[in-house]
Amino acid sequence: YEIRIVTEEDTEAVLELLKKNFFLDEPLNDYVKLIEFKDSTCEELEQFCKEKIHEKNSVMAITPSGQILGVSLNGTLEEDYGDVEQCQNPKFKKILKLLNHCAKIFQPIFNERFPKSSKVLNIRVLSSDSAWRGQGIAGALIKRSRQIAQEQGYDLIRVDCSSHFSARAVSKLGYELVYELKYEDYKDNGEVVFKLPHPHTCVAFFIQSTTSP
Ligand code: ACO
Repeated sequence: YEIRIVTEEDTEAVLELLKKNFFLDEPLNDYVKLIEFKDSTCEELEQFCKEKIHEKNSVMAITPSGQILGVSLNGTLEEDYGDVEQCQNPKFKKILKLLNHCAKIFQPIFNERFPKSSKVLNIRVLSSDSAWRGQGIAGALIKRSRQIAQEQGYDLIRVDCSSHFSARAVSKLGYELVYELKYEDYKDNGEVVFKLPHPHTCVAFFIQSTTSP
């Protein structure tokens, strides 16, 4: 397979892969049962993905016959995940709320560690076809994303990992863990919100410089 930038023309095919995989099996999406019925969708997540594709720094792994094996949807970092209260989908809102909570705690830690003017590219959605996992596709997508970040003048690349497996992939590439929140410590009215199955224990924010070897 080759890895190349996702174009607007790829949108439908990329969404097809994500709807068969990420929409169902990303640990938080799976936990809240984001997709309730077969062939239904989450408009908010689709929109989120389309916005990333539009930024032209996302990548996908594609076979010579045109089968997409995995994607990394990347975007310029906004400080958080937007105005959560505006989200009309209660399940997606629950996820955005957690990610925003983490992003808010992360930001001052980041500001202390890295120059404020740093340009950061964020890997937002990482997904490989379930039939192709454990073969280094995510690793290859992350490496290529970093290369693109470097070419486009970003100083840093950040990955917000909700899954133990994406955290494993970035750790293996030497990314630095800057912040993590254990799911068991994230509570609403004293209740743990996400009781995820093993091995997913935390949301973890990783950073790497685009220039380090
Ligand atoms: N079961 C067991 N191990 C797995 C699995 C699995 N289902 N998936 C990945 N791994 C392990 C790999 O074996 C490897 O660890 P190892 O080196 O110790 O063997 C590590 O995770 C990463 O392996 P890769 O082959 O580079 O990654 P892969 O192509 O399998 O994709 C990904 C990893 C994207 C997390 C995939 O499992 C997936 O699509 N999961 C569902 C969606 C998801 O959770 N995405 C990440 C959310 S965070 C974010 O989007 C930024």
